[in-house]
Amino acid sequence: MILDIINKKANNYELTKEELETIFMGYLNDEVKDYQMSAFLMAVCINDMSDSEVFALTDIFIRSGDILDLNFIDGVKVDKHSTGGVGDKTTLIIAPLVASLGVPVIKMSGRGLGYTGGTIDKLESILGFRTALSLEEIKKQASDIGIVVTSQTKDLAPLDKKVYALRDVTATTNSIPLIASSIMSKKIAGGADKIVIDIKVGDGALVNTEEDAKRLESLLIKIGSYYQKEVRTVISNMDRPLGNSVGNRLEVLEAIDVLKGNGKGELLDLSLTLASKMVSMGKGISEEEALNLVKENLNNGKALNKFLEFVKYQGGEIEKLEIDSKVYNIKANKSGILKNIDALGVAKLSLSLGAGRTNKDDDIDYNAGVVIRKEIGDEINEGDILASLYTNIEDPKFNLEKVFEIS
Ligand code: URA
Repeated sequence: MILDIINKKANNYELTKEELETIFMGYLNDEVKDYQMSAFLMAVCINDMSDSEVFALTDIFIRSGDILDLNFIDGVKVDKHSTGGVGDKTTLIIAPLVASLGVPVIKMSGRGLGYTGGTIDKLESILGFRTALSLEEIKKQASDIGIVVTSQTKDLAPLDKKVYALRDVTATTNSIPLIASSIMSKKIAGGADKIVIDIKVGDGALVNTEEDAKRLESLLIKIGSYYQKEVRTVISNMDRPLGNSVGNRLEVLEAIDVLKGNGKGELLDLSLTLASKMVSMGKGISEEEALNLVKENLNNGKALNKFLEFVKYQGGEIEKLEIDSKVYNIKANKSGILKNIDALGVAKLSLSLGAGRTNKDDDIDYNAGVVIRKEIGDEINEGDILASLYTNIEDPKFNLEKVFEIS
């Protein structure tokens, strides 16, 4: 039976919901083995899925675990998701920004695997910050301060979690239907009313072409309307890192700087865009009106105050946020214009400094990472500092090949 289902997908036939249920629920219950699911996932990568297969798979993921009911919180609950990018600390900026405008943000986030840390790793770089909240704690915090960021409970879409871990080690992560069902199942099981999704496209992203980003966008919106959940999307560039810092505590520091009103460039622009979409959906106003409100709260300190309140509520000691590591300044070996900063190169560099994990049980050095000191388009003189590298690794070896392109 399982072999028939794998064969059917390998020969590019559409599967029924019952067949998808048999193989996926069988996998959750350990009746279907890793090697069988790997073969099936690869067949999906090659032969794709129809819309009805994607809807069925999303439903199977959702029903594999708990579905959170956030109706105890007044107001429209808007969630945000990013398909993952290098230096992406937007959640740290927009969650308090949106909450400071009275739109509740109850967000379940993940740890990073691959090159850089996830939002939960970044928050855990703040001493004392608690990320494993119980449902009771979530409820109390949401009604007290209107913002919660916690790790995904193990009971939320557990099948997606198991399948995602297998995809990660079988080169089956970048299938558009698998990405769409994975993201949407978690957001819907997490109880969101409306969802904003940042689709990253570029060398440092899961989605590498504009065409794939458009296909993903359309699928996410279709799944949303299937569940009567409004989905809005942003397609943003991930050829270069977002902002100047990559590495957990360094990224928290950069996010605080943006919340202090010192943001600039793509990081500020994307944060404003995402936040105004969320506020527009939460308050039922236009994105232009929402943008004005968002800018106001970024400049009058209310977003920063909400961030500080949120960190304190979850036990974080923000005053102890210092980088404790050796610093190595990287200097330009020639003069010219800085043409590119390669996102994937910076991510690998940051991982080699200790900021990410290659295995899910690896320890992270929260102090480690990269701060880029120049902007693309800057005129560079030989000897100028391009980046500062933070690490506690003894006698580190840096691979800077292709990270900075000067010509
Ligand atoms: N983010 C997810 O949650 N799932 C994917 O498959 C890709 C990005």
